[in-house]
Amino acid sequence: MRLDEAELKRWGLRIGQVVEAPVFIGLRGALGAGKSVLARAIGSGAGVFETMPSPTYNLLMRYPVESGREVVHLDLYRLEAEDELWELGWSQLVSEGEIVLVEWPERAGHLLPEHHWLVDLFVPQDEPLVRDVEVRRIGTPPALPPFPLSVSSSG
Ligand SMILES: Nc1ncnc2c1ncn2[C@@H]1O[C@H](COP(=O)(O)OP(=O)(O)OP(=O)(O)O)[C@@H](O)[C@H]1O
Ligand SMILES: [Mg+2]
Repeated sequence: MRLDEAELKRWGLRIGQVVEAPVFIGLRGALGAGKSVLARAIGSGAGVFETMPSPTYNLLMRYPVESGREVVHLDLYRLEAEDELWELGWSQLVSEGEIVLVEWPERAGHLLPEHHWLVDLFVPQDEPLVRDVEVRRIGTPPALPPFPLSVSSSG
């Protein structure tokens, strides 16, 4: 599915609003593909009101939101060794109430949780303002809302 930025954000907002926690969503794609754009939209939909800076250097940021949920945003781009994952508390991730959003999940190799989503974002050649989005379900994570979402279904 090909989405412009507004459509991608609308889908992300909807995910944040409706997805059941705990859930793990891996966001894949090249530098600038839109992983952070989507993560922020999901966070916003889940009730994160502060800006979500890129966790590129500290690797993990937590945002408690209402109704006992928590958005956990990770960016593993700079991960150098598996040890760093354990220091981050990787083994406790996807605990009750957590919406875990992971950029560069491939850096965690075989250590991804059993049940998760993978969202792939591709920048088509010659069309810098849209993204081809592919969604893969691994195991049985809680459902994601479908896309595309028409404007009327965004509220
Ligand atoms: N259809 C689109 N969807 C998402 N982002 C888009 C789209 N079109 C243009 N953009 C732009 O692409 C950029 C995506 O940046 P973003 O920080 O989300 O990338 P990223 O995948 O997180 O990269 P990194 O690996 O560096 O963290 C933003 O500047 C955004 O405005
Ligand atoms: Mg990013």
